[in-house]
Parts: sequence; structure tokens; C-alpha cells
Amino acid sequence: MSDDIFPVSEALKQSSYADNQRYLSLYQQSIDDPDGFWGEQAKRLSWSKPFSKVRNARFTPGDISIKWFEDGELNACVNCVDRHAKATPDKVAIIWEGDDPTQDKKITYAELLEQVSRLANVMREQGVQKGDRVIIYMPMIPEAAYSMLACARIGAVHSVIFGGFSPNAIADRVIDSKAKMILTADVGHRGGNLIQLKQNVDKALERDGTDSVEKVLVLKEAGNDNPWSKGRDLCWQDELAKASAECAAEAMNAEDPLFILYTSGSTGTPKGVVHSTGGYLLYAALTHHYVFDYHEGDIYWCAADVGWITGHSYIVYGPLANGATTLIFEGVPTYPDVRRIGQVVDKHQVNILYTAPTAIRALMAKGDLPAQDSTRSSLRILGSVGEPINPEAWHWYHDKIGNKQCPIMDTWWQTETGGVMITPLPGATDLKPGSATRPFFGIQPALLDADGNTLEGAVDGNLVICQSWPGQMRTVWGDHERFEQTYFSTYKNYYFTGDGARRDDDGYFWITGRVDDVLNVSGHRLGTAEIESSLVAHPAVAEAAVVGYPHDIKGQGIYVYLLPTDGTEITEELTKQVRQWVKDDISPIAAPDLIQWTHGLPKTRSGKIMRRILRKIAANEYEQLGDTSTLADPSVVDALIDNRKNR
Ligand code: WTA
Repeated sequence: MSDDIFPVSEALKQSSYADNQRYLSLYQQSIDDPDGFWGEQAKRLSWSKPFSKVRNARFTPGDISIKWFEDGELNACVNCVDRHAKATPDKVAIIWEGDDPTQDKKITYAELLEQVSRLANVMREQGVQKGDRVIIYMPMIPEAAYSMLACARIGAVHSVIFGGFSPNAIADRVIDSKAKMILTADVGHRGGNLIQLKQNVDKALERDGTDSVEKVLVLKEAGNDNPWSKGRDLCWQDELAKASAECAAEAMNAEDPLFILYTSGSTGTPKGVVHSTGGYLLYAALTHHYVFDYHEGDIYWCAADVGWITGHSYIVYGPLANGATTLIFEGVPTYPDVRRIGQVVDKHQVNILYTAPTAIRALMAKGDLPAQDSTRSSLRILGSVGEPINPEAWHWYHDKIGNKQCPIMDTWWQTETGGVMITPLPGATDLKPGSATRPFFGIQPALLDADGNTLEGAVDGNLVICQSWPGQMRTVWGDHERFEQTYFSTYKNYYFTGDGARRDDDGYFWITGRVDDVLNVSGHRLGTAEIESSLVAHPAVAEAAVVGYPHDIKGQGIYVYLLPTDGTEITEELTKQVRQWVKDDISPIAAPDLIQWTHGLPKTRSGKIMRRILRKIAANEYEQLGDTSTLADPSVVDALIDNRKNR
């Protein structure tokens, strides 16, 4: 932990929405009088029917219920599009920068309204109604945002699937959500590669149980001849051309689900995180406003993918609700080469850049090259999200990308929280590299020990949140019991984040990482159980244990211990095959980095795998194995260590 402090600049103190005094007073108000605070903030949205009640939430065991603005009505699409199309029709809503650096375009709010309305009409004509689920499996193109907003317009619940996920992962999500329609494209472009999205959808829909899907709307990007399922597949361009450009928006209750986003947990299959229309939108908008200090005319770029929550809240809903200009980037920071981020910043005169530590570390490995051939002088504020940012990467980002001129907002939050929870504010918070600093308005974090005792002062503990906030997830799709189990059973009356954190003498939070069996690989969340279940489905694998280990670029790498089935001959080829198996089954992001075959796993006498030991071995920390006395067969550990050392 460094003692470096980067004080707020005088300029930002003056020009930003909140200096430290204002942060402190607004924060206090948000905690003392949440109803008053959020009732007032909610005025930034347009409500078709005003709410009379702000908050109705309880974390009571057996009766978890979270509601905000429960009798109010609004439409998220109207809030993100119509009101700006009316007030500032010619303002650019979306700047799109293609994977190919010669490709870009700008979409005004008026154009956005037209595109979204046409698409919404097509979906309605195809029988999609309020409450139906629609899957979006798209490249990072403006149509991905149109799709989300069109669903919101007609009250359909979208579920975006990251374009890197495999057919199996798509099928799982179709089956769980019982989606009626899929919006996709024939191909996507990323880092110079073609991704066969439509083919993946076709394959997914071969699986049993996916017949809820009636229609697949396909954007023809490459114009290639995919097999076409007559009666099911529709051409995006043809259908939109026929559709009306006017579409009445559904009035939605504030508590109606806006979307489902699947994310990994420590057990079982990915769960469908459900976010609401009113509370979520307000929280995304307010955090975007304050954390990035978004002012009229700013060009804002969040370099995440819309397949993740960061893309939902900070490419689409937050910025558009605020009438901002948001940049959608199709490519990756390293294509055509590592100078790309700086070049995009200069080309579009980006003022605010929000990206992830894994991208920063990948660039940092290339020294000064990423900062060559660009000035990045338009930048004012930088952001970081997804995993702890190590001080070295923080400094590199600050010095090379930000020219030592821009504060870094290290934002801690989760898919479940809907928006940023612990974060600096540009004009208010002195920065310490590696610390997410202080809670956002309305957020009351606490640190607990393993027995649930609240810890005071400068201390390490398990991070919980004491009170509901508007952006909080409402339930797990179709499984409220699992919602309660996962987040409210470890510590009664608290929301448990699954993260550990340290609080320092100044009350700043330093997130130390997951304390459960969730991995964070290049900012992507993966459950060890999910990867293990994929591995044991391979005929050569009898048993599998997956742990994370420190990785220079990815933050965490995936370390796999495998027990072969009887008679299996272990070869390089087999190891390769197993790696490919996981890629095909889940996604390339879940591919094991290191695979170790073994003839025994460390288990307790009751048969439970001792992951703590496996983590230490994977991290090359043999001296700190801790208590091994409960092992059924301690010799297993020595064999594993010998094997690890020989790699
Ligand atoms: C981790 C991404 C440290 C954390 C928005 C959390 C972070 C998980 C930070 C959620 C940060 C996210 N510092 N750790 N600034 N931001 N995390 O759901 O472990 O993909 O629980 O949401 O990422 O990942 P998710």
C-alpha cells in the first residue's frame, strides 16, 4: 500500500459538480435522509406517473425485498432517447469507432430515436410483448445499443450475451430466460478477426429446450450466405425498412425488470442478475454524472463491452440518460497496434476515458510505445474498473495516457450493484494509487470479520453494504431463493459483496479481491465451479479443481489441476485438447492458463477439496500452506509441489 497522495487540482475543485465539502454534505444527507435525497435526485428522470413512495427495502432473512419508487411509471428508452431527441435533436448521441481504424460514424439523438423506434416496431410486429425476454448477441456496433433501447421501449426484458461466448453459453441463457427472440448479426469484427455470431446462434438453437425462441433478427454486416432458417430468421435491414419510424413507448412500472445479465458466482451455473427500470436507471445516471463529472459537450468513452455490466451502465444507460455523447469502440486496445487508444482519443477529442486495469497492464508491457503518435491532450478524467489496479499500472496510466494531468477514478462495483459504489469524485477526492477511496452517495459499506462482527477503524475485513441503494439488483431471474442464499445468508441483514477490503486511517477503502470461489481474469468474472463442470465433462478427466493464481497481465490466471480417468495417457496433445474443450464449451476467456495433471488432490477426510492449499501451490507459495493436518493423504501435497516446481 503506497503513501502516495494525489491531491485534487484547483481547477477541478472549481469546475466540478462536487468539491470535498459538497461531497461530504451530500453524502451525509444521503445517509441521514435517503428518502429525501433520492426523491430529489429522481427528478433527473422523466416520469410518466410520479411516485409517491421512494424506498421500500428490507434485508430481513427469509423476506428480502427491494423496491424503489414502486408506484412510479417511466420508460427507460424515453429517458435515454426521446427527451434529448426533442431538446437537442442534432447533438451526437453515439460516436462509433470501428475495429478497422478507417471506419467510424456519428449518430445524432434524432437518428437514434428513429433507429430505435423502427427496431421496436419490428419486434412488436413479431409478437414481442411487454415482459417477454429478448437475447442480444451483437458486435460492438451502434445496433447493440439500439437493441437494448428498443427492448426498453416496448417493455421487453433484454439479456445481452458477450460476443465471445460459445453456443453452449448462449443455449444456457436461452433456456434459463425462455427468450422469445434473438437479435444478432451475421459476423462481428474484433482485433482483425471475424466472429461468426449467427453460426453460434444456429448451433445454440440446436440444443433441446431452446424452442422458446420464435424469431432471430439478423443484421447482415458482411452480406455472407449463412444458412437461413425460413420462418425463424429475419433480415434486420429488410424488416427495418418496412417498419414505421414512430413507436409509442410502453409505460413501465419503476420496478419492472429492465434487463437480465448473467454473471458467474462461486457455485453452479451463471445466474441471471435482474435490474429494475427506475432505480437502476437513476443510479446509472447519477453515478455517471458525478464520477465522470460529465459536462455538456464532453466526449465520453467507456472502452468496455456491452456484454458486461460496465457497458450497460456506462456506455448505454448512464450516459444516454444524461444526454451525453458516448463513444462505442468495436475493437481492442492492441489492434492494429498498441497506439490505438491514444489515436482514438485524439481523433474524437475524447475528454473522459474509462477502461480496465488488464488493458492498462497489457499496454504498459509495451513501454512508451502506446503513448506515441498521440497527444491525448483532450483528456480531463480517467477511470478504471473491473479489478484492483496495482499502483504500478495506476502510475503508468496516469503518466503515459493522462500526461500527469488527469485524476483516475478507480471505481469499485459489481454486476449486482448496477453502478459504481466506492469511488473518488474528480473535484472532491485526493487520490491514493490502488485505492477505490470512498463510498458514493447513499452507500454504507462496512467491514465484518468471519463471525459477522463489525470492525471499526483501519482494518481488513469482508466487505458488506448495510442499506439498499436504487441500483441494487432485485432478484436472480426465476430463483429468488438463490438471490437470498448468495447475497444475504453469509451475514444476516447485510448485502455481502464477496470481496475483501481494507480501510485505512483516512477511511479509504482498498479492495483486496474476492474471498469466494470467483475468479477475475482480465476483469472477466468466472466461477471455478463453472470451469470445473466443463472440465469433468471431458472423457479424459475424472476430477478437476480450478483456482486462480497471480498473473502479470490478466490479474488472475486460471490454474487447473486434473485427475485423469483410468487408462488415460497424458500427452501434450491431450492437454491442448482439454484447453480447447473449455474454450468451445464456455468461451476463450475461460481457457486454462496452466494445466497440471495429478494422481491425487488434497482432500479432507470428509472428501472436500482443500482449495486453500491448491491456491498456494499455484502461486508458488509453498512455505505458507497453513494447517494440513486434516488432509486424508498428506503425501499428495508433496507430489503436487514437486510437479509445480518442475514446470
Ligand atoms: C472486482 C464489474 C477492485 C471485484 C463492474 C468485484 C474491483 C468484481 C473493482 C465484480 C475495483 C470491480 N477494484 N476490484 N475498482 N471493480 N472489481 O460483476 O472483485 O464483472 O466483486 O463487475 O470485480 O465484477 P463484475
